[in-house]
Amino acid sequence: MAVTPYAGVTFKRPKIQDGAGMWRLARRSGTLDLNSSYSYLLWCRDFTETSLVAKGPDGELCGFVTGYIRPELPNTLVVWQIAVDTELRGRGVAAAMLDTLVSRTGSAGASHLEATITPGNTASARLFVSFAGRHEAPVTREVLFDTVVFPDAHDTELLYRIGPFTPTLARR
Ligand SMILES: CC(C)(COP(=O)(O)OP(=O)(O)OC[C@H]1O[C@@H](n2cnc3c(N)ncnc32)[C@H](O)[C@@H]1OP(=O)(O)O)[C@@H](O)C(=O)NCCC(=O)NCCS
Repeated sequence: MAVTPYAGVTFKRPKIQDGAGMWRLARRSGTLDLNSSYSYLLWCRDFTETSLVAKGPDGELCGFVTGYIRPELPNTLVVWQIAVDTELRGRGVAAAMLDTLVSRTGSAGASHLEATITPGNTASARLFVSFAGRHEAPVTREVLFDTVVFPDAHDTELLYRIGPFTPTLARR
């Protein structure tokens, strides 16, 4: 069953004007890799169908998820980054963003989700494992990028692959 978003928060496809807020939220998240501001603006131009922003009652950006469909595996949505502002965490906003996005990409044929998580990121691991449980989907985990392949001091990234989703979700 899909999660109901926290009251007062609405989800929209990102516009280019949201790129700056996404970059700022990534910067204050404390855990996300901060990519260039340019990359968030570009994302808001080219990947709006596979991304979402969450806006509070005042219209402020309080969450986002960026994703893309793997070019060579079109049944798979890759979640690149997901973040929720600190004061809204633990209220189901990230879970609801994932459900909303997967419902949309599911209609377009994506039956699997992939995300990479660094070993110490308990909140992120719980978010995705809980998503899998909610949608009765199996999860596999493997190392995608070991720390040694990074040019800087970057943690290993573990790949979580979830799916197939239940037909109900994929049809929505
Ligand atoms: C990861 C993150 C997006 C979760 O957002 P959120 O809105 O607080 O998550 P939700 O409230 O939807 O919770 C989803 C699940 O994760 C669990 N969870 C959330 N935060 C948790 C924490 N700190 N520790 C353990 N579990 C946690 C919730 O209990 C829930 O599980 P359940 O359905 O089994 O009860 C948020 O913590 C965040 O922005 N972190 C910084 C950025 C980041 O690390 N992003 C992920 C890497 S791309």
